[in-house]
Amino acid sequence: MNFKKICILGLGYIGLPTASTFAAHGVQVLGVDVNERIIETLRRGEIHIHEPGLRDTVRAALTSGHFTVSNQPDGADAFVIAVPTPFHQNKFGKFNGQEFKLADMRAVTTAAEAIVPFLRKGNLVILESTSPPRTTIDLVAPILARSGLQPGRDFHLAYSPERVLPGQILRELIENARVIGGITPQSAKAGADLYSIFVKGEIIQTDATTAEMVKLMENTYRDVNIAIANEFARLADKFGVDVWEAISLANHHPRVKILSPGPGVGGHCISVDPWFFVESAPELTPLIYSSRKVNDAQPHYVVRLVDRALGSLKDKRIAALGLAYKPDVDDLRESPAVEVVHLLQEQGAHVKAWEPFKAGATIEGVNLSSSLDDAIKDSDAILLLVRHTEFINLKPTDIASKIRARAIIDTVNGWNVKEWQDAGFTITRLGVRK
Ligand SMILES: NC(=O)c1ccc[n+]([C@@H]2O[C@H](COP(=O)([O-])OP(=O)(O)OC[C@H]3O[C@@H](n4cnc5c(N)ncnc54)[C@H](O)[C@@H]3O)[C@@H](O)[C@H]2O)c1
Repeated sequence: MNFKKICILGLGYIGLPTASTFAAHGVQVLGVDVNERIIETLRRGEIHIHEPGLRDTVRAALTSGHFTVSNQPDGADAFVIAVPTPFHQNKFGKFNGQEFKLADMRAVTTAAEAIVPFLRKGNLVILESTSPPRTTIDLVAPILARSGLQPGRDFHLAYSPERVLPGQILRELIENARVIGGITPQSAKAGADLYSIFVKGEIIQTDATTAEMVKLMENTYRDVNIAIANEFARLADKFGVDVWEAISLANHHPRVKILSPGPGVGGHCISVDPWFFVESAPELTPLIYSSRKVNDAQPHYVVRLVDRALGSLKDKRIAALGLAYKPDVDDLRESPAVEVVHLLQEQGAHVKAWEPFKAGATIEGVNLSSSLDDAIKDSDAILLLVRHTEFINLKPTDIASKIRARAIIDTVNGWNVKEWQDAGFTITRLGVRK
């Protein structure tokens, strides 16, 4: 298939890099977002998210005239849906007395509905949003069929999961292998034609439901693996072992790869996607369910660790370093670090947080400092919650000259114990009681 014009719905972490990359490869791209603020920001040549290299790519795409933005779709050869699929905040499912979270598919529904008036014979529609199994066939296809055209016969429909790493999105978009699941083999082939415009990694064609499951399996595998690492951390603490050393030794086994424990699992993907399996088949997913529960409980475990380190939390002044859900990104969605801060405050601690990727921002329920120095001055303890490079590179002697307190709590194995001890600090680490 030949693609002259593409319409991409949703200009966030996935849609915006995808749109600007297609445009950089000479395709005419219309980027659509329902958020007017995002459209205005892009029209000014600015971007609303932090992702290395993205501003330059977007600006070049806008200047070249290959990329335009709007709050509604228009006719195109292909439509790509990259809208959010979070879980409902106040709606839960229940199985055997246990509650589970439910996918909020309203954005996918609205985006598919918005395409209907513009859909033409021979078009291709791709769903990229992470979705419960069978979404492409059971939710998206019937909506698109309201156009009077039949999915798979009159137009192509496929699911293609995105597995880019925030911080590396522009590179991984091009280099990663990509799975395309069509509702027919012809739809998969059309999807492969589209992405071959810029993808250098392998493009593998399959059916839509397999592709949906692949994405959920990847993230669920990681969630379960992190849950076991978090349980290992709790066990190591109980038995007086250093979990970081133990994991590194276990990983010398040629067929073992244990991930790292930490303050919990966050972000838009790993902490969300496993619920899509649980929701779809609660009777088949006790392990996936338990892993979600273990990881969701980890911020509470961290708060108990801080309590133990400081003797109590009441009126303690704590400098929390990092709020993002992972290192070197500005993304706070579902972040366990933010939850740790809230829980500490609920227990009577006074927390000042420093998040270098959110300087000057306002975050509900968080006392955000204007600088690292502002956060740590007058604090009773420093709590490291995210392995931002900037934090890992801090010099203990430097910090020692700025504050009186000497208590450090490291939840991410970010700091060299000896260096901090040499500078006079007492260091408490997640997964270590020695
Ligand atoms: N961020 C990641 O690293 C990542 C990785 C893999 C998969 N995903 C999946 O990709 C999808 C998008 O994620 P994201 O991180 O880009 O989300 P995001 O929140 O950064 O961006 C989504 C954008 O879609 C817009 N939007 C919402 N409804 C819309 C509609 N009906 N029409 C047009 N625009 C609409 C929102 O305003 C927002 O700007 C999700 O399903 C997510 O799970 C994300």
